[in-house]
Amino acid sequence: RADADPLRPRFHFVSPAGWLNDPNGVSQWNGTYHLFYQYNPEGAFHHRIQWGHATSTDLVHWTDQPVALEPSAGPDADGCWSGVLVNDGGTPTLVYSGRLGEQELPCVAVGSADLLSWSKIPQNPVIAAPPAGVDITAYRDHCVWREGSIWRQLVGSGIRGRGGTAFLYESRDLRSWEYVGPLFIGDASQGDPADSDWTGTMWECVDLFRAREGSLGTVPTSGDAPDVLVFSAWDNGDTRHPLYWTGRYSENSFEPTGLHRLDYGGRFFYAPQSFQDQSGRRIMFGWLQEGRSDAAMIEAGWSGVMSLPRVTTVADDGTLVFAPVPEIEKLRRDHVGLPGQELLGTGAPVATGVSGNQLDLELDVQLEPGAVLRLGLLGSADGGVSGKSKEETVIELCRSTEGNGQGTLRLDRTQSSLDPTVDVDDKSGPLPMPDGRVHLRVLVDRSAVEIFANGKPLTARVYPTLAGQHVSLTAEGTVRLLSFDAWTMAEIFGGARNLFP
Ligand code: FRU
Repeated sequence: RADADPLRPRFHFVSPAGWLNDPNGVSQWNGTYHLFYQYNPEGAFHHRIQWGHATSTDLVHWTDQPVALEPSAGPDADGCWSGVLVNDGGTPTLVYSGRLGEQELPCVAVGSADLLSWSKIPQNPVIAAPPAGVDITAYRDHCVWREGSIWRQLVGSGIRGRGGTAFLYESRDLRSWEYVGPLFIGDASQGDPADSDWTGTMWECVDLFRAREGSLGTVPTSGDAPDVLVFSAWDNGDTRHPLYWTGRYSENSFEPTGLHRLDYGGRFFYAPQSFQDQSGRRIMFGWLQEGRSDAAMIEAGWSGVMSLPRVTTVADDGTLVFAPVPEIEKLRRDHVGLPGQELLGTGAPVATGVSGNQLDLELDVQLEPGAVLRLGLLGSADGGVSGKSKEETVIELCRSTEGNGQGTLRLDRTQSSLDPTVDVDDKSGPLPMPDGRVHLRVLVDRSAVEIFANGKPLTARVYPTLAGQHVSLTAEGTVRLLSFDAWTMAEIFGGARNLFP
């Protein structure tokens, strides 16, 4: 049933059945890439979460592997929640949140050499309780790394009345942990829950990496790049979005210098986790949540999409920039190119001749001050002749009238679906565009859209009901189209997938 859904992505990783949320244990081990994920094979709802597992040699095609972790009597009886994979002197080791009742506590499992079978250690939970005397909002998810002979761990949390935080621990063996203190504490009274950069009452899925040389891994960079603490700002209410602090980490402190939105799609690129691969790239995955109702997900039989893996680097201004791994390009078929041209601001759409629902689009454009470029994905019941029964998803680049290098990236989903039950609100964020130049990359995979404009990502879901989607360009003011290339993208899963590999 799930595979027959025309909205199910075909070149993004999706779980063989049921529900998928966070990426876990993302890594490369002896050359093979491993992607674990929060999984409920029983149905498209979040319940009794297991660790699904898939492997890849190219970050493009994935092979389903047996479930790695399943709840069992003990501290994870109600779920094996998010965590990481570390290399303990050659032994693959998972550190994850075991859930029992309403509580999550850190647990450890060790793996066979092929990473396919996992044993929970008898000492679980390895930390018996959250720090005493602190009124916490939640306590889960892990970032673990080694510095010399010491393991360090962050557990995501929040302190009631203050803000989100990550508690730091130290260990010599990954089994007995000493509490050090909060790495630092966010201030939830700054801004409000409606702000797209509100830091929340809890930090889920903390991910600390060192942008410069060091034990946490290296991000290729120019100059004096910062350390980065990625987290997913969470609140009991509706807040869920990925943010990151830049700053300086050393031993047991983190001095934040800046706070940034990680993806302008907010909850549609949630709970990201990254790793450094054997070629030195920092690669990040995130969970693309659904924008349809609980009932519609259950009806569809599947829920949740894994993002394409993203290479993460640091721009000269110290902020992160992202691009899908180049390996993805091997899925490109049927190239269409357009000659460079000036698009004059008539406001009338120019057809590109490109259509489909699995697309990779790559454009270089230059906008004059005040100019706007709209890339439309138009679906219509009758090829657009009558103008009736239309659906349109619009990606918009705007350059400020000031003539400086500032602009906006926007995704207008308000007309993206005739289905009145799906989420269609606008997504946008600031877009630096020196001299009005923008490199735009758009990956459309059925209901998943990943946009990168000068490396700033905006990820979201759309649920078109009409068949064909035609790509058009519309300009307001003067926009120079320097290059336009488009491809259809091949599927990564041929045939039926075995539910029980
Ligand atoms: C983030 C999250 C984590 C938790 C997991 C449970 O989406 O809520 O905090 O460990 O998902 O599936």
